[in-house]
Amino acid sequence: MRTRTQVGIVGAGPAGLLLSHLLALRGIDSVLIEIRSREYCEARQRAGVLEDGSVALLRAAGLASRLDRQGLVHGGIYLQFDGVRKRLDFRDLTGGRTVTVYAQTEVVKDLIARRLSDGGAEAIAFSVTETEVADLDTTHPVLRYTGANGSRHEVTCDVIAGCDGFHGICRPAVPHGVLTTWERAYPYSWLGITADVPPSTDELIYSHHRDGFALHSLRSPSVSRLYLQVDPDEEMASWPDERVWAELSRRFELPGWTLLRGPVLDKSITPMRSFVSAPMRYGRLFLAGDAAHIVPPTGAKGLNLALADVAVLAPALDALLHGDEGPAAAYSAICLDRVWRATHFSWWMTTMLHRTPGADDMTTQLQLSQLRYVTRSRAAAASLAENYTGWPLQPADAVTPT
Ligand code: PHB
Repeated sequence: MRTRTQVGIVGAGPAGLLLSHLLALRGIDSVLIEIRSREYCEARQRAGVLEDGSVALLRAAGLASRLDRQGLVHGGIYLQFDGVRKRLDFRDLTGGRTVTVYAQTEVVKDLIARRLSDGGAEAIAFSVTETEVADLDTTHPVLRYTGANGSRHEVTCDVIAGCDGFHGICRPAVPHGVLTTWERAYPYSWLGITADVPPSTDELIYSHHRDGFALHSLRSPSVSRLYLQVDPDEEMASWPDERVWAELSRRFELPGWTLLRGPVLDKSITPMRSFVSAPMRYGRLFLAGDAAHIVPPTGAKGLNLALADVAVLAPALDALLHGDEGPAAAYSAICLDRVWRATHFSWWMTTMLHRTPGADDMTTQLQLSQLRYVTRSRAAAASLAENYTGWPLQPADAVTPT
């Protein structure tokens, strides 16, 4: 079947879903395709911290009613090291900024529900196969895919947005030699669990421990989310629940404090990587979110960067479709400025808090000195807080048609 649309969007993660919504607010039609099923997209576990700018953007786009009811506003985090747990007060350090704990899966559920209620069942094609993008350097790039019912589609677009993640088809479709990439793989992974137990803390705890990093996060007043640094080649089979809890208890140990345990609802191992690819555009193909950049989860920046990219992309595409090339030409540089800041911050948090296998004791002493510094110096703490709570966005620009 041959059809046409203004914007072909590959990938129904946060970037693709929000982009199709922002475009719809501007009266721009899009075709959104996704290789996974709706159930898979809604169950995929990712980080859960939204910057104020991301919350403001979702609110301005009319997508925050459940977020405003269920999101947990946090005014700080704890850093634990060397037998002490110190709180950084973000409100005080940044002049009132906070973060909101609300899982990426919930953002995705809200976005999917809204796209389907505004655009009907056709608004998102889930479970597609044999996806292809072509003719990217013409004014009419083409998106091809086979629908869930087996029918072949060819969609002629004005623009294609590659929101299909690190392993997607869009970035590799850019001709060899056009993109410059930078990459760092870290010699550790995160084993994450979701547990049916009230959080043992009111705010997130990032713990430096001689045996490796641990993070206590949460999903709701009754569900906890916790992570352990493990070796990259670790098998899940060597981590029965009992061992995970014992290791978490050790890495968060503090006199007078206990880690509550409960049934494990979900368990997975995630590798850690920093990756940036530039520019985020090739002709009529625009890359957004993980398709263009990956951060390790230590700074909780991945989702925020994806949302920030499409907040810039939506008005840029609107202008492009109305004959103004300017904002589209500026898209990549505007996003990469924020991306590199988050890339540096995530790398810095990661290397400050994790045990590097094989590293000498000097490395540990340098980490501990840095941790004492960021919890003692107001200037150092303010720098962490400013990066963690994130750079301001212009939500009004994202939702106001040009
Ligand atoms: C999470 O809640 O899943 C989470 C929170 C903070 C991080 C990473 C993950 O830095």
